[in-house]
Amino acid sequence: MKTRITELFGIEHPIIQGGMHHVGFAEMAAGVSNAGGLGIITGLTQRTPKDLANEIARCKDMTDKPIGVNLTFLPGFADPDYPGYIEAIIAHDVKIVETAGRSPEQYMPMLKDAGIKVIHKCTSVRHSLKAEKIGCDAVSVDGFECGGHPGEDDIPNMILLPRAAEELSIPFVASGGIGNAKQLVAALALGADGVNMGTRFIATKEAPVHQNVKDALVGASELDTTLIMRPLRNTERVLKNDAVNRILEKEKELGADIKINDIMDEVAGVYPKIMSDGDMDSGAWSCGMVAGLIHDVPSCQDLISGMMKEADEIISKRLKAFAA
Ligand SMILES: Cc1cc2nc3c(=O)[nH]c(=O)nc-3n(C[C@H](O)[C@H](O)[C@H](O)COP(=O)(O)O)c2cc1C
Repeated sequence: MKTRITELFGIEHPIIQGGMHHVGFAEMAAGVSNAGGLGIITGLTQRTPKDLANEIARCKDMTDKPIGVNLTFLPGFADPDYPGYIEAIIAHDVKIVETAGRSPEQYMPMLKDAGIKVIHKCTSVRHSLKAEKIGCDAVSVDGFECGGHPGEDDIPNMILLPRAAEELSIPFVASGGIGNAKQLVAALALGADGVNMGTRFIATKEAPVHQNVKDALVGASELDTTLIMRPLRNTERVLKNDAVNRILEKEKELGADIKINDIMDEVAGVYPKIMSDGDMDSGAWSCGMVAGLIHDVPSCQDLISGMMKEADEIISKRLKAFAA
């Protein structure tokens, strides 16, 4: 399938694997890219720019296809060495960067001078327009359904995507809540040029996470996620568990007075415990409502080729029949 996104990134299928903390290692990105999508290494999961350089090199040993690196500019607890990470990306000839969190404006000259294509993740039309204005090549439009940080506007993709299509000139992918072919076709119909998936890719054979995480996704329904950190204006969609219950209790108890320090035990440094050790109640971890549509743990190849085959059938049979 050819879209503006496959053309922009030089990939076969319009399916991107969004950056995911402690999931987006070389194995994950290579698995997706080898299957014809765009795999993305999560920059900040690597402690230093040198570690990121090694991870990119490892990934390039596993695939010759295009890969990307995610750079998340969060209202972080610490300020990482972003220029150092960008230098590592440039030195290792990665030509696609997914930015998220704050606007990447400050780093655009450095990225564009190196010939890097930038796709910025946005949760609103106004942020998407800003991304377009500062020279981003594409936008990943993240609806309220998404795993991770949906922003504070709470607009689901059924509205957000066609609104983005009304306003944007640059291509965009639909992100949040997507995990199957029907949704890919729907996203295309709503004006997107492809999709970005996070949660769905965690339940694949290549995802380098503990089996407990994959089992949790297969076992979860669409009712099993919730929002935390809303009072801190850093809302995150996570899978419900004991740690999340503790956070919600504290949010109720402390109200508007809550500080990030009150929930540090449940949110800081918990990803390795969950993703590597499989200690599922040790903290809050991002997870999208699409968990309700995840029933198996396929290879990236089977997932992506299956989605593309079914999408083709939906377009050429089911939708064509309606056009008659
Ligand atoms: C476990 C997990 C970790 C994530 N970590 C990051 C991250 O570090 N940076 C980022 O930009 N997005 C992160 N995301 C968001 C994804 O890149 C993607 O935008 C989101 O998962 C899309 O929604 P979906 O999960 O419904 O597919 C994460 C998502 C998940 C599920």
